[in-house]
Amino acid sequence: MRVLLTGGAGFIGSHTAVSLIEAGHDVVVVDDLSNSNSESLRRVEKITGVAVQFIKADLADKSEATAALERSDFEAVVHFAGLKAVAESVQQPLAYYRTNLDTTLNVLDVMRSRHVTQLVFSSSATVYGSPQTNPIDETHPVGVGITNPYGWTKAMNEQIIRDVQSAWPELSATLLRYFNPVGAHPSGLLGEDPAGIPNNLMPYVAQVAAGRRERLRVFGANYDTVDGTGVRDYIHVVDLAAGHVAALLNAAPGLSLYNLGSGIGYSVLEVVKAFEKAAGRPVPYELAPERPGDVATSIANPARANSELGWRTRLELEDACRDAWNWQSKNPEGFRRT
Ligand code: NAD
Ligand code: WQD
Repeated sequence: MRVLLTGGAGFIGSHTAVSLIEAGHDVVVVDDLSNSNSESLRRVEKITGVAVQFIKADLADKSEATAALERSDFEAVVHFAGLKAVAESVQQPLAYYRTNLDTTLNVLDVMRSRHVTQLVFSSSATVYGSPQTNPIDETHPVGVGITNPYGWTKAMNEQIIRDVQSAWPELSATLLRYFNPVGAHPSGLLGEDPAGIPNNLMPYVAQVAAGRRERLRVFGANYDTVDGTGVRDYIHVVDLAAGHVAALLNAAPGLSLYNLGSGIGYSVLEVVKAFEKAAGRPVPYELAPERPGDVATSIANPARANSELGWRTRLELEDACRDAWNWQSKNPEGFRRT
């Protein structure tokens, strides 16, 4: 299959490019590089030995999107492109709604006019808002307790895709709700490259271990969890990438929906301990107030993806810590100065 990866120069897209190429597919990447570096695609080529076609374009711009997508042939689309920083979305709601909705509308328009009938969309566990139960399965209500515009853009994207699919039944659309993607490619050539201060736990911990930041602030120590700190379902990005390959091959026809997670939760302090062990270095931390909008616990029930996609996570938290540390040590400035 020839697969278009929108946002394919980013963290999850670049790892998915590797998995698709290794599974024998061709990929073409369209990205505006607003939150990535095309060096990631050179690394994909180095890992796989296969050239990747890249087109730089802003997919939120209708004419740029149409022109870019007309320049290549593809039979399926994995749509990663979008903005993803939760706190920034609270400060810049218009930018988030515009980018995250317009990119999807433009991609769907082009797919419709080109008769491309397979779409996989990057959704997020954030659509479950403040979860009523854990582990969370796909029948859990969506939208209750979403606390930020980023989360709403994911819920709205899901609705848009549902509506388009029911008006255009030939479309096979798969919504993948990722839990907490972490880790890096085991080669040390690809990984997460956040601009500025990392928002997410594992890249922050990696920078503390490397001495780039003094200490981690642990947001909240009085949650109703094993040690009072927040619990999440961390999924190795290589497992997550494999989930996209499985979805392209095995997703149920029509509209389908899958949680991609491990089913196992770890607390912030358990992540800190696992990282210290992997890096062989201390990760100093201090307890800090809860971060607004955070939930105590978010753990996937991945049973549907396990049975219908024939996919399950294979890697553990310790693998993710080892690979994130390998990436951090070999690329202290990310893709910028290596
Ligand atoms: P990322 O920022 O590394 O990748 C997104 C890519 O989209 C970047 O390369 C960026 O340059 C590109 N992009 C942004 N706006 C664009 C535009 N207008 N036109 C073209 N390209 C554009 O993020 P990621 O972690 O790889 O996330 C990929 C997708 O998965 C996103 O949709 C994100 O919301 C979703 N997701 C991520 C997480 C996570 O924690 N990383 C969790 C759940 C869902
Ligand atoms: C994990 C845990 C924090 C940083 C976010 C988005 C979600 C999805 C994944 C895109 C929590 C704690 C964190 C720090 C800390 N992204 N923490 N100190 O919030 O579960 O999910 O990324 O879709 O939508 O909301 O992930 O990595 O930010 O936090 O104590 O400096 O680590 O409080 O308990 P989160 P995270």
